[in-house]
Amino acid sequence: MATRSDVKMVTGKINGQDVTVPAGTTILEAAREAGIEVPNLCYQPLLRPWGSCRICTVEILGKRGGLIESCATPLGEGMEVLTHSEPCIDARQFILQMYLIDHALDCPTCDKSGECYLQDNTYLHNVNTNPYRRPKFAQPYVHFSDIIDYKWDRCIMCNRCTRVCDEMIGVTAIESSYRGMDAAITPAFGQSLDDTACTRCGMCIAVCPVGALTDRHFAHHPWELDATETICGFCDVGCTISVESNKGIVRRVSHLWERGVNHGYTCEAGRWGHELLQNPDRIFYPYVRDEDGSVYEVTWDDAINTAAETLAHYQGDQFAAIASPDSTNEEVYALQLFTRAVMGTNNIDRMLTPSQRSVEMAVRAGLGDDVSNTNNMQELFTDVKAAMVVGPDIGKAAPVASYWFYHSRQYREAKTIVISMDDFPLCRRSEVWLNPKPGTTATLLSGIARAIIDKGLAKGGSDVTGYQQWLATIQNVSVAQVAAETGVAVANIEAAAILWASGGAGISADADSYPPALIYHTVAHQGSVSENDYYGDPAEIAAACNNLAFLTGNIGRAGGGVAAMRGPANYQGATQMGAHPSFLPGGASVESVADREAFGTAWLDRWAEKAKTRNGFLPVRSLPTSLGLSRDELIKAIDAGGVKAMVIDGTVAGRLQLIDPELGAALDKLEFLLVLDSFNSPLALKADMVLPKAATLEKDGTLTNFDRTVQRVRATVPAMGESKPVHDVIGMLSERMGYGFPVMPASQIMSEIGRLVPSYGGITYSRLERSGTVTPATSFADPGSPILVGGPDGRATLSLAYTAAV
Ligand code: FES
Repeated sequence: MATRSDVKMVTGKINGQDVTVPAGTTILEAAREAGIEVPNLCYQPLLRPWGSCRICTVEILGKRGGLIESCATPLGEGMEVLTHSEPCIDARQFILQMYLIDHALDCPTCDKSGECYLQDNTYLHNVNTNPYRRPKFAQPYVHFSDIIDYKWDRCIMCNRCTRVCDEMIGVTAIESSYRGMDAAITPAFGQSLDDTACTRCGMCIAVCPVGALTDRHFAHHPWELDATETICGFCDVGCTISVESNKGIVRRVSHLWERGVNHGYTCEAGRWGHELLQNPDRIFYPYVRDEDGSVYEVTWDDAINTAAETLAHYQGDQFAAIASPDSTNEEVYALQLFTRAVMGTNNIDRMLTPSQRSVEMAVRAGLGDDVSNTNNMQELFTDVKAAMVVGPDIGKAAPVASYWFYHSRQYREAKTIVISMDDFPLCRRSEVWLNPKPGTTATLLSGIARAIIDKGLAKGGSDVTGYQQWLATIQNVSVAQVAAETGVAVANIEAAAILWASGGAGISADADSYPPALIYHTVAHQGSVSENDYYGDPAEIAAACNNLAFLTGNIGRAGGGVAAMRGPANYQGATQMGAHPSFLPGGASVESVADREAFGTAWLDRWAEKAKTRNGFLPVRSLPTSLGLSRDELIKAIDAGGVKAMVIDGTVAGRLQLIDPELGAALDKLEFLLVLDSFNSPLALKADMVLPKAATLEKDGTLTNFDRTVQRVRATVPAMGESKPVHDVIGMLSERMGYGFPVMPASQIMSEIGRLVPSYGGITYSRLERSGTVTPATSFADPGSPILVGGPDGRATLSLAYTAAV
C-alpha cells in the first residue's frame, strides 16, 4: 500500500485516552481509531461530513467547549473530548425523540428492521417515551424504479443517499427536494429515476441508515440470512461483498463498509448480479449433443468416461484449450496443467476479445510483462495529484474504480483529464475533457507527449531503452497537426499536457520534479461498454499511455503508473496462472529448458506407469517444447484440421454472445468440443458435450484483480444442480486418464501454485482470510508489491522498452 508522507499529526484526549491522528481527522473518526464508538446516523465513511443528524454530539471540555457534532469537527491539538457524558446522552435522547415524532415505526414490516441505525440508537439511548405527541404524518411507498422504493415517513433526511450519488457515483440521480415538513428525497428534477443518469448501483439503498430507501427485489428480514464474505466476479476491480442467503438461495448482496479494495461500495453488477444464479439458462446437469443436434442429459460418470476416451485420441497438438479469464486462479491453473501435462501441448490461452489481445500485446512490449496496473488503485486515496482517464466510459468498464476518481477530486483536489468520445459524468466534472475524432486517440496522446516536451515537462525516460529513438519519432509530431487530425484545439491539448505532466501543479521554472500523475485506460473495453466503438488501435493507445508515463517519470512512483483495465474478473490471475501459449505459470517461458524442468519435475511424476496399459493413454514424459498457437494460428489450425478437439471454459461475458465471433465460427469445424459453462450460452450451444460449471458465488478459490491483489472467493451457496468448479472437472478427467491430479480443495491447488510460482510464494488461504495480498509476494513475510518499479533496486522490474505510438 502506498504510504503518505509529511502528514501533520495532532494529539487530543478522548474519554481520558490520548489519541494521535493526522490533522483534519474528525473527532468521530479519531474516536473510532481509539476503539470508542460514537453513535451516528448521517456519517458515512468516505463521504463528506454532513453534520445534520446531531446524534454524534460529544462534549468538548474547556472554556470554549460545549456540545458539538463529532462527525464534522476535527480533533484539535490538546482538545479534551467526552463522548458519553450526561449532557451528550441528554442531547441524543432529545434528538431521537424529535425523530420519532413522525417516524413510521412500522418496524415489523420494514426491511431494515434489525439493522436500522435509528432502531439501534433508540434502544441504545433507552428512548421509550416521547413527550412530543401528535398524529403522525404518513405517506405510502413511492416506487422510484423497478428496484428502489422510497418511504417518506421513515426518512430522516440525512442525505447519505444524495451525497453518495453525487460524491461517489458521480451522478445526481436523486436529490433532496422541498423544505420543512415537505422535505423529501426525489429523483432529480422530479423526473422518473429511469430518465436520470442513475447507474442502478443501489448505493443509495446501501447507505440509507433507516428503511427509507429499500430494495424492491428483497423481501426478508436480516436475521433470516446467513452472510458470507467473498469477491464479486463481474469485473477486474475485485470488490469485497457480503452475500446473504437463506435456504441455499442468495437473497441479497450487502456492503461491508471499509472492507476490501472497494471499501464497501459496489456497482449494479455487484449488488444485483447474484440474480443470475437463478437464471433459467443455468445448466444443471452434464449433457451431450448428438450429430443430429439432439441433447441428452448424462451422469457425471458417463460424461467423464466419454470425454476422457474421446480426448485420448487427440493428445498432442491436435488439442487446444481456452481458459476463462473470470474463472478462479485454481481453475485456470488446473486447466493449463491438464493441457500441458496430460494433453501434451502448449495450445492454451484465455478467451479474450480482439481489443483485450491488442492491449496485452502493447503492455508486454512496453512494460516487459502483462500487468494490468503498475500501481495500486488505493493510491487514489493517498498520493495521486493528477489523473488521465483514456477510452470508453470508465463508469461502465470499472464502476467502482471510477468512484475513486470522484473521491480523489473531492477530497484530495486531484486534477482530472478525460480523453473519451463518450460523454459520461467524469468528463463533465474534469478540468479538461478532450473528445477526439474516431480513431485518433493515440494521435492525440502523441500530441500531448509533444506538448509535454515542448513545455519542458519531460522529467523522466532518459534511462529507458529506446528513449532517444522515440524522441526522434515524436519530434516529427506537431501539435498543430495533431489538433487538425483529432479535432481537439491546440490550447486544449496543451492544457491537458501541462495539467497532467505537472501533477496538477502547473509549470514552475524551478521544479525538479512534479507531483505524481497516473493514467487509467479502458481501451480494452472498446466495442463492449461504449456506443463509440472506434477509439483507434487499442495497442497504439495502450503504448501511447505507457510512453507518457515514462516520459514524465511516473513509472515506479506512488500516485503514478499506468492501469490498463481489461474487464474479466481474473484477467490478471489467468495470465499469471499460465493460460498462455508462450508462458508457463508465473511468466516462465515454455521455451526455457530450466523453466520446463522446474514445472515438469512437479507435474509429470503424477503419471502412473500402469496408465499406459490400463487406460491406453500416453503418459507425457516431458513438457511440450514449442510455443502454443496464438489466437490467429488457432483459427487457421482448426480450419486446416490441425486442431481437432478443444476444451473451452465459458465466461460470464459470453453468456449472451460469443466473445470472439471469428474464433466461435471456427469451432464448428472441430471433431469434438467440450464446453464447461454455467449457462446455455452461444458457446455451449456449439458443444458436443457441456459440463455444468459452478458460478463464482458457488465455489472456493482466489481471484487476482487488476492491481494484482489476490483475494479469497468463498462458496456462498451450494452450486446449482450438479455444477462443479473447473478444477474438480479437471481432477475427474485427469484421474480417468491415469494422471494423478485428483479432485482436491482449492486451497491445496493454491499451495502447489505457491510452491511453483515465485510471485505467488507468499499467497496462502490463511493469509487471505483477513485481506488480499498484492503480487508479487514471494514469501509469507513479503508484504507484496503494490508498485512495480524499474531499475536494479526494484522489487519487480519492468523492461522499459518503448513502442512508438506515432
Ligand atoms: Fe454527526 Fe449525523 S453523524 S451529525
